[in-house]
Amino acid sequence: TTVEWEAASYDMGGHDTYMHKEIHEQADAVDRVLRGRIDDRFSTVHLGGLNLDAREARQIRRVKILGCGTSYHAGMIGAQMIEELARIPADAEPASEFRYRNAVVDPDTLYVAVSQSGETYDVLAAVQELKRKGARVLGVVNVVGSAIAREADGGVYVHAGPEVCVVSTKCFTNTTVAFALLALHLGRTRDLSVRDGKRIIEGLRRLPEQITEILKQEEEIKALAEEYAAARSMLFIGRVRGYPVAREASLKLKEVSYIHAEAYPASELKHGPLALIEPALPTVAIVPDDDLLEKNRAAMEEIKARSGKILAVAHQDQEKADQTIVVPKNEDELDPILMGIPLQLLAYHTALALGRDIDKPRNLAKSVTVE
Ligand code: G6P
Repeated sequence: TTVEWEAASYDMGGHDTYMHKEIHEQADAVDRVLRGRIDDRFSTVHLGGLNLDAREARQIRRVKILGCGTSYHAGMIGAQMIEELARIPADAEPASEFRYRNAVVDPDTLYVAVSQSGETYDVLAAVQELKRKGARVLGVVNVVGSAIAREADGGVYVHAGPEVCVVSTKCFTNTTVAFALLALHLGRTRDLSVRDGKRIIEGLRRLPEQITEILKQEEEIKALAEEYAAARSMLFIGRVRGYPVAREASLKLKEVSYIHAEAYPASELKHGPLALIEPALPTVAIVPDDDLLEKNRAAMEEIKARSGKILAVAHQDQEKADQTIVVPKNEDELDPILMGIPLQLLAYHTALALGRDIDKPRNLAKSVTVE
């Protein structure tokens, strides 16, 4: 199925910036990526454009995901979902790094190219090189009929609708949902049980409503942003499922507010970044209510002991943090889809407070179609 992009969707629709509009379109966008794909009878999903039959799906030994910028971060989340739900070893790598290191191309690996525009040159060049070497490449792409979509052997369209702001928000979220669909599909051709399939489907169906819930906290997040706009630098930490969320939130803040931000796995704090902690370096901690909660609390304690300020994004109020943005809980595997959304608003309102050119940050382009 194709989704028609109407001229009206390029309209600002009462918002002051495209970024604000696109953040607020996410519940509808997620609804669109799910539409027509869920198969309740077999607790799986139908992905019409995959061109991968069950036998081929079972033969995959590894998944390698390639993308740039925000799409790379969505791919990191996708890799974890594929490992968790399909139990196939998976990882993500910047497409540019991959294409310059003469990577070993393996016939049992499924390569997945991720791109909003479908035109990013580094991703396209990686796909062409892979195809030349006989690899199977899928696309997870937003723009229908784009170069990467055409070059790939099949794929999953992201259906986020047109994204105008240079920094990606709704397409990031929809890409992570598209990966959840791919992971569920691959899982259900392998060892994922009917019961777990159902659990994930129910989780997916809860997403749009939960996104709406998160966006209702905009006023509170705006107040936080006005406070953090004074920071010269910020640290973002997360562990396993929280780490790519921290990476993307840090990128978003950097791109749109020009505040320096760095993301680190929470587990690596003691191997370097603790030296930076002081009241003037705030930390944003991604703290999902999963089996790593205690570990994350301990990391926050380490920061507090060094007088660092902490903003947590969590499923319940965190007493170790100075402030907590509470987001609704979904299934553990799907939590990363939601946890970055309040931090899109944080980046947006920080940039607004600093008077930045939100839809067109300096030195950046929406799609980089040259080398
Ligand atoms: C540019 C944009 C980023 C984007 C990246 C990948 O650097 O500024 O926002 O994430 O390209 O773009 P793509 O269209 O391939 O997702």
